[in-house]
Amino acid sequence: MSNGPELALPAVYNLADLRAQVRQWRADGLRIGFVPTMGALHDGHLALVKQALDTADRVIVSIFVNPTQFAPGEDFESYPRTLESDAQKLAEIGAHLVYSPDAGEMYPEGYVTTVTLTGPTHGLESISRPHFFNGVATVVCKLLNQVQPDLAVFGEKDYQQLMVIRRMVRDLNLPVEIAGGETVREPDGLALSSRNVYLNANERERAARLNVILHDFAEALSRGDNVADAQHQAQLKAQTAFDGVDYVVARDAENLEALPAGPIERDARVLAAVRVGKTRLIDNRAAPKT
Ligand code: PAF
Repeated sequence: MSNGPELALPAVYNLADLRAQVRQWRADGLRIGFVPTMGALHDGHLALVKQALDTADRVIVSIFVNPTQFAPGEDFESYPRTLESDAQKLAEIGAHLVYSPDAGEMYPEGYVTTVTLTGPTHGLESISRPHFFNGVATVVCKLLNQVQPDLAVFGEKDYQQLMVIRRMVRDLNLPVEIAGGETVREPDGLALSSRNVYLNANERERAARLNVILHDFAEALSRGDNVADAQHQAQLKAQTAFDGVDYVVARDAENLEALPAGPIERDARVLAAVRVGKTRLIDNRAAPKT
């Protein structure tokens, strides 16, 4: 049951083999956890897998660099592909199966159906990357239908993506529990991301400012500062620190809607996307109402 490289843990490369394995585990009454990834795994991904292992008997990790969530000119071609070392890391923490389909398996010829949302896809990432959430929602919907897990874990680092997936699963009645996993950070606060490898030494040092700016912004909101003032301050700091700022904003934590001026009345989330050199970084922080 293989048409790919021999890896440090069992792997399947097509839907038929995946379904055969899942069917067997289901017949044994096992609870199945799932972590979708694009590979280039770091400790943030591994924390999501460990979270799934806490409550599932078997955990499947997909590794698929999804072409439909990249626009022409983005880093689809250069996105790091490290299947062998990813599998080694997954084997070390006790994941059970890698699912690594190719693009032909995922998008067979003649494929015309996509998933499109409104609501939480509006604004933020969609402004710079209008194609992005259609690509993500479509591939995640397909992966959830293919794996049919009891539980799927997604990182809070991609907070808008997590909200989009929660809404899609609710709206389409997909029978899966979605869990969010906390962002894992470097000692200086930079959120782990597969794209951090693009940063040179100077950029890497500057990138850590993003966490500080968001941390201070969230604290200001939680202590009752005016949303518009705190947001303005955070935007000024980001403009000074980085080579470009796509957004630095506070939103409602549940539905990502814009907040009225004045102190927050419900839990908020501060979110940002900035450019350091040629690398685009995103991050976010909770701003609970205290
Ligand atoms: O967050 C990611 O790595 C990707 O967007 C996902 C969810 C695996 C879909 O390709």
